[in-house]
Order: sequence, then C-alpha cells, then structure tokens
Amino acid sequence: MSAPNKSYDPVEVEALKPDVIERVRNEALAAIAAADSLDALNEVKVAHAGDRSPLALANREIGALPPHAKAAAGKLVGQSRGAVNKALAARREELEAERDERVLVEEAVDVTLPHDRAPAGARHPLTTLAERIEDIFVAMGYEVAEGPEVEAEWFNFDALNIGPDHPTRSTHDTFFVEGGKPGEESGLVLRTQTSPVQIRSMLDREPPVYVICPGRVFRTDELDATHTPVFHQVELLAIDKGLTMADLKGTLDHMVQALFGEGMSTRLRPDYFPFTEPSAEMDMVCFRCRGESVGNPDRPCRTCSSEGWIELGGCGVVNPRVLVACGIDPEVYSGFAFGFGIERMLMFRHNVADMRDMIEGDVRFTRPFGMEI
Ligand code: DAH
Repeated sequence: MSAPNKSYDPVEVEALKPDVIERVRNEALAAIAAADSLDALNEVKVAHAGDRSPLALANREIGALPPHAKAAAGKLVGQSRGAVNKALAARREELEAERDERVLVEEAVDVTLPHDRAPAGARHPLTTLAERIEDIFVAMGYEVAEGPEVEAEWFNFDALNIGPDHPTRSTHDTFFVEGGKPGEESGLVLRTQTSPVQIRSMLDREPPVYVICPGRVFRTDELDATHTPVFHQVELLAIDKGLTMADLKGTLDHMVQALFGEGMSTRLRPDYFPFTEPSAEMDMVCFRCRGESVGNPDRPCRTCSSEGWIELGGCGVVNPRVLVACGIDPEVYSGFAFGFGIERMLMFRHNVADMRDMIEGDVRFTRPFGMEI
C-alpha cells in the first residue's frame, strides 16, 4: 500500500462511497436474515464478513486516504462491519437455538419404553392349522407320527398297493432321487403323499394303531396360484378290531365340527385309491353359506361356488392288501384312513386366493393370522 496521498479524495474511491457502503451493508444484513441453517450462515459470513468481502476490501482502502478523510471513512466502514458482525452473531444464536430444539425432539429417547422386548414375529398359518388338526386328534387319543421326506419308493407306492405298473403311479408327478452314479436309480423319491407314514406306523406298532401324520410332500407341479411343488398334507390312520366306514364318517364329521363349528358335516362320494377299498372323496358342507347358496342366485357363495359343498380330500377303508404288506391280519383288524392338503384348506378357510403368498415368507402375510400357539 502506498503512503497517504494528500490529493487523494475519498469520494473518488468507489469502495468507500457512502451509498456503496450502505448497499453492501444492506446486502450483508439481508443475506444474514435469509440464512436458514448454520451452514448457510457460514457461507454468508465468508461472503460478507470474510477477508475478501466488500467491507473488508473497503477497510483496506482507508489506509491510503489523506488523514482528514480517514476518520469519517473509518467510522462509516467500522459501523457497517460492526452491524454485520452483530447481525451474524444474533442470527447464529437463533439458528443454534433452533437446532438444539430440533435435536431434542428428533433424538429424544423415551426412557420409559421397554428395552427388553423383541418383536414377536408371526407363526406361519400352515403350521398353526396343522397343529390345530393334530390337537383335535391328540385329544381323541391319536398319536402324531412322522416319516422321512426322502422316501423309499416301496413305502411311497408299492406297500400302498401301487405296484410298478399301476396307472396311479404315473399320475403322481414324482421327483426321483438319482443313485450314486448319474442316471442310476436309487429307489428313493421325494414323497408324493403322506400315505407312506401309514405303512411306517403299522410296521412300527402293534395294532391298534391310531395316528395322525402331518408333513411336507412334493410333486413336479409348476408354481402358480393353485399349485406348488412343495405342499403339506395331513394323513390319518386308524386300525383296530371292527372299524368300519361308519367310524370314518363319524371321525370326519367330528373333525370338521372342531375346525369349522357346530352343525358341520361331511359327505362321501365314491372314488378310487389303491390303498383303500372302498374309497371315497370327502366333501364338507360349505362353512360359509352352509348350503344356502344352492339354487339361490340372490345369495351366491364364492367359497363353494354355490355348490354347498367343499372338496376336502380322499379317504376309505384300508385295503386288506395294505394290512397284509404290514404284517397285520385283515381277518382280525380293519381300519380307515384319510388324507388332505393343508394349503387348500387354508385357502378356503381364510380366503387366500393365491398359494404363492403362503411360500414367500413375507411376515405381512403371516401376521394377520395371529400368534396362536
Ligand atoms: N394320498 C392321497 C393323495 O395324495 C390322499 C388320500 C386318499 C389319503 C385316500 C388317504 C386315503 O389316506 O385313504 O392323493
């Protein structure tokens, strides 16, 4: 900077003109008022009160003024810088107070909340329903029996009177397990039904036999709204002296009443299964319309398609050939069996339109079914 210059007129120095000083001061004050965060305020501070701000630059010009002009210019610039610094400090205080208040709200910790509770999650409704069905029969003295999911073909088919050439064998879309070498047969399948547990139960026990067998089964179905290659069945088997189709009917009626309420009943329609003779398809009265939708177009029922009945599964009197395969004398003992799919029952019992919802594992699907244990 050069020495004072007597002929130097402050009025000629653009940065020190009073109206310029006033303008930059007002701009600074407006920017400070508009700063809505501490970060924004820092930027404003650099621009309007920093080393290279207009007021700082004006201040530097003062040294070059003649002595008589210095005082007035110094006062003008000094007052403006003071005002700007004061406004900065006041705005900072305001913004800090706002921030502190916000932090108190946003980061509040409710110390009264329980600290030791984990969300309960939800049980899968298929599990709950299977256990409900088990409970009905356990209460009647039945035992819960289980068998392997990778099953010998002999248990899954042959012992159930489904010989190698039996046409039923090919209707079960079976997953075969490969043997030791590729292409070699292992004699094992993923079980296509829970019926092999009947055989295992009879071989494991002396009659009388009363078992309920829930489990996972497999068929080579494509996954869609009504099919899944992995699904669940419940199988029931009762072997005793003098059991007849009437006992089967009474047992089925009891089950649907326990599951769907009083007044429910079942009907049997002739069918064919190799392991039961006679065999039947079992239907239950539609639990929603109780048959009132039949022939009544004013009251259609979507659950049973206004047929009044819902198909449950298969059943029958155990074929004597099956008893013989298990070493049980068919002259002394007889029995009945039934089996049905749990997914299907869950679908009509709870209006689940798409089976895929059951296998996706989304807790939003399972939660509404509750935590029934
Ligand atoms: N296992 C049969 C199936 O998967 C269902 C079945 C039918 C089971 C008749 C039975 C029965 O116990 O008696 O199609």
